[in-house]
Amino acid sequence: MAPKNQAAWILAKNSVPLKVADAPYTSPGPGQVTIETGAVAINPFDWVLQYQGGILASHLKYPMILGVDVAGTVVEVGPKVTRFKVGDRVAGNACSIGKETNNPAEGAFQLYVVLRENMIVSVPDTVTIEQSAVLGLGVTTATYGLFHKDYLALDMPKVPAPPNPRPGGKYPRAVIVTGGSSSVGASAVQLAVSAGYTVFSTCSPKNFDFVKELGATGVFDYRNQNLVPELVRALEGYELCGAYTVGDGADKICASVMANRLAKTPELPTRKFIALAGGGAIGVDSIKGFSGSYRMMSGMIGMMGRNSIKKITSGIEVKFIMMASTTESDNCVSRVYMEFLGPALAKGQFIAAPDAQIVGRGLEKINEALELNQKGVSAKKIVVSLP
Ligand SMILES: NC(=O)c1ccc[n+]([C@@H]2O[C@H](COP(=O)([O-])OP(=O)(O)OC[C@H]3O[C@@H](n4cnc5c(N)ncnc54)[C@H](OP(=O)(O)O)[C@@H]3O)[C@@H](O)[C@H]2O)c1
Repeated sequence: MAPKNQAAWILAKNSVPLKVADAPYTSPGPGQVTIETGAVAINPFDWVLQYQGGILASHLKYPMILGVDVAGTVVEVGPKVTRFKVGDRVAGNACSIGKETNNPAEGAFQLYVVLRENMIVSVPDTVTIEQSAVLGLGVTTATYGLFHKDYLALDMPKVPAPPNPRPGGKYPRAVIVTGGSSSVGASAVQLAVSAGYTVFSTCSPKNFDFVKELGATGVFDYRNQNLVPELVRALEGYELCGAYTVGDGADKICASVMANRLAKTPELPTRKFIALAGGGAIGVDSIKGFSGSYRMMSGMIGMMGRNSIKKITSGIEVKFIMMASTTESDNCVSRVYMEFLGPALAKGQFIAAPDAQIVGRGLEKINEALELNQKGVSAKKIVVSLP
């Protein structure tokens, strides 16, 4: 008999709060597994979609089950799955909201979730299920911006990390990753280091040690007025392979660093490309209702316009990270989940970061967790234990 499933449903477009109710149990298809959920983590995108799903994901059908970051135990394995068996502990990225998916069975906020083999990893015994739940969207977004051919196109990460400079290379290679204490940034710092790049990052001073432990060589306060010259100085002697930005204004800072460096040391190679993951904290009040839709639309159009002008005037390209699909041919995300992340977690070369802040147990707690995330976090990820 199929297990009894329940979910925290979003019943209609732009409806708040989520409603806990029965959900069908779904067996996995080819290349998929079904897990019993042990924990979910909250991303800002989860509640942004609650308020503005109509604009940001107009393809979604309702009722839907949201949630991306998830961890649990495999209870059923679909055809053609080679990496997992029943009883394995896994974590990763649930895919209900993808254009090609649009399927509530694949949303994280339920007791049994269908996951794609290429978007999950085995969790070693040294890592708790709650802690592993922080991996999902952070790893995916960091990977896409760092390694996809349409973004920074860095070399892929390896276990162990390759040498820097690479054999025959003239300069050691560096990349700027701002917001190293954010979920996306914590993954991006570690992935870039594992790919053989020196990382310079930013965060608040209280999180400097944390970001250094992730592998950053230099960490700077993003509120410091001298940030641009300090970064330019730190990058002397390196090839700069681009920037990956999290945080309000971080793309402007990185563009200034690049422009200053090109003027000061034109002989040093500088890739004039910035992969932009997102701004800092988004106020929930600023995205609610019709005025929120208008603000969001004009913000997106404004950003695209600004970025095109910047590219024409300075040659520095700023590109917002938008993942095309989970099945595209240049699937660096699959390669990270399937080839790199398992051995890297097992060896401690990559840690599930930032720390999980567990707010409680049960689907009912997810609404509370979403509200808590709206207040902003610092080097933490809000997590709910299940069932
Ligand atoms: N494009 C995509 O597909 C995609 C996917 C996922 C997320 N995102 C976006 O990426 C951003 C990060 O998401 P997240 O879940 O990782 O966020 P998060 O963990 O909630 O971010 C909080 C962190 O951001 C840091 N921060 C805030 N303002 C900053 C600034 N100006 N410069 C540097 N760091 C700053 C804070 O650092 P301190 O506490 O140290 O001050 C804090 O640790 C968000 O804007 C999110 O919407 C985009």
